[in-house]
Amino acid sequence: MNAFELQHICRAIPGDEGPQSLLNDVTVCFEKGLLHALVGPSGGGKTSLLRLLNRLDAPDAGTVSYAGRDLGCWEPRRLRRTVAFVPQQPHIFPGTARDNLLFGLRFHPDIVPTDQQRLSELCALSQFPPDLLSKPAEKLSIGQQQRLVLARALCLEPEVLLLDEPGSALDRPTAEALGRSLRHLCRRSVTIILVSHDLEWVRNHADQVLFMEAGELKLQCPAAAFFNRGVEDRIGRFIAGQKEALHHDG
Ligand SMILES: Nc1ncnc2c1ncn2[C@@H]1O[C@H](COP(=O)(O)OP(=O)(O)O)[C@@H](O)[C@H]1O
Ligand SMILES: [Mg+2]
Repeated sequence: MNAFELQHICRAIPGDEGPQSLLNDVTVCFEKGLLHALVGPSGGGKTSLLRLLNRLDAPDAGTVSYAGRDLGCWEPRRLRRTVAFVPQQPHIFPGTARDNLLFGLRFHPDIVPTDQQRLSELCALSQFPPDLLSKPAEKLSIGQQQRLVLARALCLEPEVLLLDEPGSALDRPTAEALGRSLRHLCRRSVTIILVSHDLEWVRNHADQVLFMEAGELKLQCPAAAFFNRGVEDRIGRFIAGQKEALHHDG
């Protein structure tokens, strides 16, 4: 079953030399309960695509539907609870980490108040250290803030998680633990669509890989098939180049 269906999406923004195309005729489906990874060179349109999926931005042309309904038919608050976006730059509110984690509940009185057990579960799922819950959120590192924002999103029990570079500020063991948590959520039918430049991580955790370049979706395929490609084309060279960069990093 498809969670999202996108048909012929185009989006452009005004530029100095006329409109700059961010997304060019993107048609794609995201299957429910899978972990989809958007990869490709910087500026290729990955973040732009993610932002359309909970209507942070709107396309100039084409349609986006979730659960068989055009996004325009969804009440915005309902949509953003169902489809949660965790940006690369975490947005933190004044107060403790716990205040931040529970922030969304005030807008959704139907959700059962979070008890200690649920709080522990949310910390475990997001890899957020529970002993930091009483700390002022703005004192946390970027990586800790990212995981806190993920916990805040999970608190509202979304059906879809949109994650922009969730592992970018994490060390390898923490990023791997987060990958295992995300797989656990997929087994509970959560659909995950994320951006990553870490192909090793993508190989370990993604079901589907989507390669984007210059605003176009060039390839969507199962992760195993993606990583078994030869180096003869542009995408193969991109994969090989990332491995090379990894070796140079040590
Ligand atoms: N709000 C914006 N204003 C100006 N340029 C933007 C904006 N959003 C995206 N871009 C540009 O659009 C292109 C695609 O960006 P993005 O979707 O962020 O790519 P990616 O996430 O793949 O690196 C880039 O050239 C970026 O600089
Ligand atoms: Mg981006």
